[in-house]
Amino acid sequence: MIEVKDAVKRFLDTNVLDHVDLVIERGDKIALMGPNGAGKTTLVRSILGFYHLDSGKIEVEGYDPIKNRVKVLEKISFIPQTPPPIKLSLTELLEYVSKSTGTKEEDIKEEAKRMDLDISKNLAKPFFKLSGGMKQKLLIAIALAKRSDILIFDEPTANLDPKAREKFYHLLSELPQEVSTLFITHRIEEVEGLINRKIYMDLGKVVEDERL
Ligand SMILES: Nc1ncnc2c1ncn2[C@@H]1O[C@H](COP(=O)(O)OP(=O)(O)OP(=O)(O)O)[C@@H](O)[C@H]1O
Ligand SMILES: [Mg+2]
Repeated sequence: MIEVKDAVKRFLDTNVLDHVDLVIERGDKIALMGPNGAGKTTLVRSILGFYHLDSGKIEVEGYDPIKNRVKVLEKISFIPQTPPPIKLSLTELLEYVSKSTGTKEEDIKEEAKRMDLDISKNLAKPFFKLSGGMKQKLLIAIALAKRSDILIFDEPTANLDPKAREKFYHLLSELPQEVSTLFITHRIEEVEGLINRKIYMDLGKVVEDERL
């Protein structure tokens, strides 16, 4: 589904991605780990077409994330490490998401409820004024409601309380077998039951890739 071939991304003369090779197969459930600054977020942002590689190649179901950005983003649900400072109210945001991605507002509300977030109480509030955990829950709800074949989460549970974290993992455990997930996480013990593959990055390289 996703192929990363000899990918190099440089920032200020440092290879933040240093010849990364990686194939993500359909149904893979991956925990991507590694110390701060290892290049995990950079790898994910390159897969999403937010960064141009300096050399090498990435394909998402055969599509180049830069040349076919729209196609690639259609296939992936992504939750960023830091929620974007969206000024839209929740009403406007849901409308925007449903128009631009074809996700049903009802599905988002349903997923939010499953994450214990009552959207109806906050419809007039701008997204950026939600609490950190509420933002995360709403982003998770939107990502799950999109019913993508590929889910990419960059430390999605950082702002969640323990109960919300458990809910989130429960929802993930109910995903269809064929969905591929890539989680960046520092809490491997929490996702252990959900993954079939552990990838460890350090200094821009994949240093360990273990199937469980
Ligand atoms: N837009 C950018 N401009 C310059 N340097 C960048 C940029 N994005 C990332 N870097 C650098 O690339 C390196 C890897 O950053 P990245 O965010 O990919 O790490 P990470 O593995 O996700 O770390 P963390 O666990 O802290 O989230 C860091 O040294 C960072 O400073
Ligand atoms: Mg990161």
